[in-house]
Amino acid sequence: MRVTWNREDSVGIPLFDKHHMELFDIINDFTSGSESGHKKEATEVALTDLFKYAKEHFTAEEDAMKKVSYPKYEEHKTQHQDFVQIIQEVKAKMETDHELANEVLTILLSTWLKTHISDMDKEYTPYLKGKV
Ligand SMILES: [Fe+2]
Ligand SMILES: [Fe+2]
Repeated sequence: MRVTWNREDSVGIPLFDKHHMELFDIINDFTSGSESGHKKEATEVALTDLFKYAKEHFTAEEDAMKKVSYPKYEEHKTQHQDFVQIIQEVKAKMETDHELANEVLTILLSTWLKTHISDMDKEYTPYLKGKV
């Protein structure tokens, strides 16, 4: 399933919107690769890219939230950590069952980022707008 970044996905902070669009690109490259029969390679590339770019993005958000003493900082950070942990688990799964790793990643990526943006990221907008 492809994910599309729409206006309503904007968190009102250009840098973070840019990060989100880049993450959507990684997800879509993964989907295209998987659908065209290159599941193993697509999964490997997505895991490497997500590990790097998602972590960078999460750190940027967490630093910004911390700076303004955002009240839901801990809760938000926990969601980021949970995501990174799943990515690590999928990475480990690649060694023994890359088909399953691909399936898990497909399910995770079809919903996680969209949901995280709408449920968590958007809540920081009033605190961070104009400050990042
Ligand atoms: Fe976030
Ligand atoms: Fe985010």
